[in-house]
Amino acid sequence: MKKTDEMTLCRLAAEAQKTAYAPYSAYKVGAALLTESGKIYTGCNIENAAYGPTVCAERLAIFKAVSEGERNFKMIAIAGGDLSSGTPPCGVCRQVMSEFCHEDLVILIVKDGGADFDSYTLGELLPHSFRLN
Ligand code: THU
Repeated sequence: MKKTDEMTLCRLAAEAQKTAYAPYSAYKVGAALLTESGKIYTGCNIENAAYGPTVCAERLAIFKAVSEGERNFKMIAIAGGDLSSGTPPCGVCRQVMSEFCHEDLVILIVKDGGADFDSYTLGELLPHSFRLN
């Protein structure tokens, strides 16, 4: 994967961030998920007055993809807040990633106002994950 491809995914995550519905936290997040088959699914956080039903951007992107029959993922980019220092995925999203992705899933965290990203693997961010399969 070329750096330009990674930057494209980061740009799509930042684009998806714009449609986030976050009236309670005012913290908007966008995600863009690349499947093994080359498709891209985006997601944004959608909050709720009861708080609990809130869904994170990463989970929405993953659930959209899974609902359309995709289960093999290569990479996910996350763009959150003011895009300065980066938004690592929350613990619940890491666990959802581990349901469908191998430890080598690449997680890109957008930073520097969208000009750069940090790159991790799921294995680095969620070692020894709990799985039944
Ligand atoms: N959020 C995400 O969308 N992804 C994360 O990984 C971290 C948190 C959302 C949930 C909530 O709407 C807002 O950010 C503040 O926590």
